[in-house]
Amino acid sequence: MSNETAGTAWSFETLQVHAGQTPDAATGARALPIYQTTSFVFEDAAQAAGRFSLAEAGPIYTRITNPTQETVENRIAALEGGVGGLLVASGQAATTLTILNIAEVGDNIVASPNLYGGTVNLLVHTLSKYGVTTKFVEDPDDPESWRAAADERTKLFFGETIANPKSAILDIEAVAAVAHEVGVPLAVDNTIATPYLIQPLKHGADIVIHSATKYLGGHGTSIAGAIVDGGTFDWSASPERFPNYNTPDPSYNGLVYKDLGAQAFILKARVQLLRDMGPAVSPLNAFLIGQGIETLSLRVERHVANARKVAEFLEGNDQVSRVAYAGLPSSPWYERAQRYAPRGAGAVLAFELTGGYAAGLAFVDALKLHSNVANIGDVRSLVIHPASTTHSQLNPEELEAAGVSAGLVRLAVGIENIEDILADLRLGLEAAASFTGTPATTEAGA
Ligand SMILES: Cc1ncc(COP(=O)(O)O)c(C=O)c1O
Repeated sequence: MSNETAGTAWSFETLQVHAGQTPDAATGARALPIYQTTSFVFEDAAQAAGRFSLAEAGPIYTRITNPTQETVENRIAALEGGVGGLLVASGQAATTLTILNIAEVGDNIVASPNLYGGTVNLLVHTLSKYGVTTKFVEDPDDPESWRAAADERTKLFFGETIANPKSAILDIEAVAAVAHEVGVPLAVDNTIATPYLIQPLKHGADIVIHSATKYLGGHGTSIAGAIVDGGTFDWSASPERFPNYNTPDPSYNGLVYKDLGAQAFILKARVQLLRDMGPAVSPLNAFLIGQGIETLSLRVERHVANARKVAEFLEGNDQVSRVAYAGLPSSPWYERAQRYAPRGAGAVLAFELTGGYAAGLAFVDALKLHSNVANIGDVRSLVIHPASTTHSQLNPEELEAAGVSAGLVRLAVGIENIEDILADLRLGLEAAASFTGTPATTEAGA
């Protein structure tokens, strides 16, 4: 059996178990072996030379390739419907490599403001120091707003398919169409959706990234990131905009990346940037992410079924003024969620307590089942009060722009029994009931 012969016809549930893997050639091991080695012995000098020149495929050094990593990369690429994948040390590394694989000093990217806070930090405070700036679109729901932000130095459009805490859904087809008219690729962070809920490449996106730390792993044990190349973007169409794909790379014997064809982007990310910057995933973490992926659809089915019930429960409670979940008809993104994510709008949701900041703290402290952590995508139910934690450095205007009010609570709904989850949330609501609204600024001491 090989994925090359059977993979394309298989359904998602089968691919998540088998894609990219054959029994180990050396031992016949059925499960994915952990190749915990830094380097691989070449048969002879000619083979070594062939591997270094890319004339022959095969591992050299675990910073760049490793059979355990490769299996997981190929599996994620198969689930997303891409031509190639790259597994790296974290979701942040995946975003960083994606941007730097296209944009250089003096260039900019155009991004939705609805992004994970760590991504905003990376774009606004870190990449700008290296000469790559970000223009945030005014209204990410209006495709013309994306066009208006672009200029001749724009190299990439970037957004999240499902963005928290607003549970905003990106109109992938419309934004991809504008990106392509402008002449740039669309890269999306598909962490919350996972390929089981949304396959962005099928809707016109060109590159998909993941924090594999979250739902792909699912067990909350391993930090990792993934990049998938759709193979759809023609880097040679605009040599002036993409000189880094159309001119020889002196660090790789004059290789011109566009000549690598559909996999130009992902191969460049590996052989140039991963080689030079080095955020390699460890073989053990690659294995653990692979273990998680084998049950992805099963877990996500339960996650979204539970999330829907939690959202409905909260929406019906007097102490809750608003629930942000695109799976609820009250969400401004409900129709879009039905279109792009008919199986469910993910399992991250946020809700606002009428009791404000103090109620938010009391709610979080009263929960027994939910863990108070800055994470999502674990099988366990997780909770956090953003105004006092992840968003505590922001001023009131920034909090409002991020959709984080004083009484906002974010949940990453787990796969436990729904009755236990709801019972725990009732404990939180009881504890929060005695508080009346208070602004974040007074209680946060900001
Ligand atoms: C949507 C999203 N993208 C990217 C990241 C960064 O991933 P990592 O923590 O694996 O670096 C996160 C982490 O919370 C995230 O939620």
